[in-house]
Amino acid sequence: MIKVIINGASGRMGSESVKAVNAAEGLTLVAQLDAGDDLVSSIKETQADVVVDFTQPDSALSNTLAILNAGARPVVGTTGFTDENLNQIDTLSKEKGLASMIVPNFAIGAVLMMQFAKEASKHLPDVEIIEYHHPGKKDSPSGTAVKTAEVIMESNPNVNPDLESLKSTELIEGARGGAKGRVPIHSVRLPGYVASQEVVFGGLGQTLTLRHDTIHRESFMPGVVLACSKATSLAPGLTYGLEHVL
Ligand SMILES: NC(=O)c1ccc[n+]([C@@H]2O[C@H](COP(=O)([O-])OP(=O)(O)OC[C@H]3O[C@@H](n4cnc5c(N)ncnc54)[C@H](OP(=O)(O)O)[C@@H]3O)[C@@H](O)[C@H]2O)c1
Repeated sequence: MIKVIINGASGRMGSESVKAVNAAEGLTLVAQLDAGDDLVSSIKETQADVVVDFTQPDSALSNTLAILNAGARPVVGTTGFTDENLNQIDTLSKEKGLASMIVPNFAIGAVLMMQFAKEASKHLPDVEIIEYHHPGKKDSPSGTAVKTAEVIMESNPNVNPDLESLKSTELIEGARGGAKGRVPIHSVRLPGYVASQEVVFGGLGQTLTLRHDTIHRESFMPGVVLACSKATSLAPGLTYGLEHVL
């Protein structure tokens, strides 16, 4: 049995994860923690193998490092990591001989959307991302949008050749959105959404839109259970994205 702690257990994602881990074969929930609880002591007392973190961007890095230092494997859905943070986690994971997983999106449909975007960007290099989330989301853009931009640029480093000239026509600051590298990202925050994203490609006389909609947080749970189940057998170091364990 893999012993699992949920950190952020009272939150929207944490409470779904508690139900999913309780229902999963091969996993046993050993603690539910929230802000103010002692994460390190709890890991040591329960001898947890894995800690799932769904907290908030401000605490995601310190929680992840604390989990590794206490001898457990972080499976982190919390967003807001910089490239420098990811390198720091990878280095500590290797030093400690423990795997870490950071998963910008646990929904299989979103992972597939990223893979299709990677393929499309080889043939249609003009592309922008629009992501839609509930207004309670604390960071912008979403981790999924950032990861999508990264996979697009890995696949085709020359995307959006006219990006600079398009930006110079901006009459209202921010009208063209932000950008991760060469990929513009527009973040919408409105009631009614859980998490949705469109990756829009433009070509001569045509557009292609890849769209994924999460309509309930249970969509993330098969991915959370899979990541917990795989974390104990992964090599030390950072695994970034669910696609590596599918
Ligand atoms: N990877 C994915 O597939 C995925 C999917 C959806 C969301 N997310 C991300 O997951 C994170 C959580 O989202 P959510 O909607 O569940 O947020 P939420 O409803 O605000 O839940 C966060 C929970 O964490 C607690 N918390 C805050 N700081 C903490 C700390 N330092 N230690 C322990 N617990 C802490 C909060 O307690 P208080 O309320 O007392 O502060 C709250 O119970 C966000 O970054 C979100 O973007 C990821």
